[in-house]
Amino acid sequence: MGSRHHVEQIKHGPPLAADVDIRANSRGYAESLDAHDPLRHLRHEFIIPSKADLKRPTLSPTDPQEAHSPPSIYLCGNSLGLQPRKTRQRVSSFLTAWSTKGVTGHFRNHSDSTLPPFMDVDDYAAKLMAPIVGAQEDEVAVMGTLTSNLHLVMAAFYQPTREKYKIMLEGKSFPSDHYAVESQISQHGFDAKDAMIMIEPQDDKAIITTEQILEAIDIHADRTALILLPAIQFYTGQYLDIATITRHAHSKEILIGWDCAHAAGNVGLRLHDWDVDFAVWCNYKYLNSGPGSIGALFVHEKHGRVDMSASTREERYRPRLCGWWGADKQTRFEMDNKFVPRPGAAGYQLSNPSILDLTACIASLEVFHMTSMADLRRKSISLTKYLESLLLRFPIDALPEDKPFTILTPKNSDERGAQLSVRLEPGLLDVILKELDSNGVVVDERKPDVVRIAPAPLYNSFVDVWEFSQIFLEACRKAVKQRES
Ligand SMILES: Cc1ncc(COP(=O)(O)O)c(C=O)c1O
Repeated sequence: MGSRHHVEQIKHGPPLAADVDIRANSRGYAESLDAHDPLRHLRHEFIIPSKADLKRPTLSPTDPQEAHSPPSIYLCGNSLGLQPRKTRQRVSSFLTAWSTKGVTGHFRNHSDSTLPPFMDVDDYAAKLMAPIVGAQEDEVAVMGTLTSNLHLVMAAFYQPTREKYKIMLEGKSFPSDHYAVESQISQHGFDAKDAMIMIEPQDDKAIITTEQILEAIDIHADRTALILLPAIQFYTGQYLDIATITRHAHSKEILIGWDCAHAAGNVGLRLHDWDVDFAVWCNYKYLNSGPGSIGALFVHEKHGRVDMSASTREERYRPRLCGWWGADKQTRFEMDNKFVPRPGAAGYQLSNPSILDLTACIASLEVFHMTSMADLRRKSISLTKYLESLLLRFPIDALPEDKPFTILTPKNSDERGAQLSVRLEPGLLDVILKELDSNGVVVDERKPDVVRIAPAPLYNSFVDVWEFSQIFLEACRKAVKQRES
């Protein structure tokens, strides 16, 4: 297996052997797991909406009694991460910098600011982001949004010829990735029906095996210009073996990029060591930077080199779509229209980024820097295993076939992140969602029958997972009863 599995020699979760089943199904057991969790203090870095917050039709409370409402059970960090407490303070500080310094804020340091001058904030964000995805500092740019960044990197990395023009992706890829690939192919004058190679899952569980991907690469190598795959598949939560697949693509001289939307801040990526050509991600899921917030991209150092003394443009730097913010910082303001890119991922930037967005992203990255991805991943594996175990073993006297759902996500912790995708039997989803909602549980649904449940190790507790399992299993029973009546 790839080097990822080496790094993540993790102790697999709390003791959940058969003899502790009864204890594991108790709240007290979940509380004891929380009491021994070395990362439990990080939950206080976040604002967890209360159950009353979620129910209320207004933003602000109207009834003082609501102050006593318990926190919701928020297991939806795979869709939108919660707000770090630091965000409001950091954004407010930025607003003060703007209001008191105007344009001079671009260039000057201020002793009471947590940010560098506006024009250097992007570099600061990249520095904080790099260790989260296993990159060198200059291989990351915090910029744009996922889909627009995907177009930018494809403009640089998809250079089709008459012979090699196809793009390989998975058949169930996120629609935006599908559209981006399809439109890039059309822009180059090829027929998307012919040029898109889709790897389809072979089983009902929607999992694609590494062997299947390697085989598809072998079969289509002669015609394939680029591969784009998800690090973690959004629907099933499957974590692909990036190291092995990337190595194999390179052995066939094919460039490969990864959509890390569901992986960044979730699993211990090592984009540099795995020799990934490029990657893109958003920062509003596990990276808690706010809805639609600024995204990021990774470009391996070998694709970010700049040598202006070389004789051809291709040798000077990788051809790309250019903008002034990707230009050398020393000459950026000379306005001489002679584009010299910054080395690294920063040279792929187009516009000056929103400092408001970057501020929110940095506030969240500061929380990540209170721990490490290795420690977060260790807790995440435990939380998700605990969730799985409660779903599969409860109630103790029930037979596995009595449960009206199956878990689509791979069982092996090396092949998944925080998320479990649960497929319900037909006709149960609506009742179950209603029950979850009325009990202050937030998960995410994929119609017609899948719920995705993602305990985020920064702010979710073992008690969250235990409470969820009780409410969810009760909701299942109710839904089955209603279906049968
Ligand atoms: C896997 C995946 N790719 C792409 C996107 C699109 O992201 P954006 O809207 O930030 O471009 C998402 C959004 O949720 C996603 O989950």
